[in-house]
Amino acid sequence: MQANEEQLIGEFLEGDGAAFEKINQFMGLMTRYDCAIREVRTKFEVLNEELSYKAGRNPIESITSRVKRPVSVVGKLKRLGKPITVESISENLNDVAGIRVICSFIDDIYKVAEMLSVQDDVTVVQVKDYIQKPKPNGYRSYHMIVEIPVFFSEGKQMMRVEIQLRTVAMDFWASLEHQMKYKKESADRPEIAAELKSCAETIAATDARMLGIRKRIESLEKQTEGQENGYSAIDGIKPFPIR
Ligand code: GTP
Ligand code: MG
Repeated sequence: MQANEEQLIGEFLEGDGAAFEKINQFMGLMTRYDCAIREVRTKFEVLNEELSYKAGRNPIESITSRVKRPVSVVGKLKRLGKPITVESISENLNDVAGIRVICSFIDDIYKVAEMLSVQDDVTVVQVKDYIQKPKPNGYRSYHMIVEIPVFFSEGKQMMRVEIQLRTVAMDFWASLEHQMKYKKESADRPEIAAELKSCAETIAATDARMLGIRKRIESLEKQTEGQENGYSAIDGIKPFPIR
């Protein structure tokens, strides 16, 4: 922080040194969460690069991230009945750092989640599979809380990051549902909830069909490769390449 910036904040707090120190600590912690997001983002980007090169297509469509806003951090601590202190944030909240990974197909979600989980420096703290077991409202996504070490000037610190993995289709539904969730008019209208759920089911069925189409194309490709080699790839017999 620039000296004049500190001075301005100091003046704003009317010389309250303790409050200033707290704000400084809070901002420091938020910066560390931002760094943790970057580490996890890089891990997914590396996996995407490598898998794209191997398979000729991108398993990850896009990645977005956010650090929880101060007002939401305080709001959640209050909701949980936890102390409103800087220490309490890392002790009680798992979703201050959040990263959303939008995958192309359902199987890509499980593939990249597994590849992240087995990395030496990643500890999986929690998994919630809302794809196998959708929420009652129809919400689908694969949620993970992971802990990773981040190396700062004063040493290593373990940081938690919430990861949401979903397909483009699941993201479409979740984004629109999220926008409508806060409209008071829909709160006690069961027919609206039912229709939203039905949309989620249509989307899930389409996701499954898209995966089916991709698998059919892949198996056709394999057959063609087999015929070109003079061997058939049918019946699980893998052709070996002719040199
Ligand atoms: P939060 O207190 O909301 O963080 O919930 P939680 O600790 O029980 O975690 P959960 O894994 O259920 O949800 C975490 C996040 O997933 C939420 O903050 C949302 O971003 C997303 N999410 C969960 N349920 C829904 C839903 O029904 N609709 C949408 N649009 N997003 C959801
Ligand atoms: Mg949350």
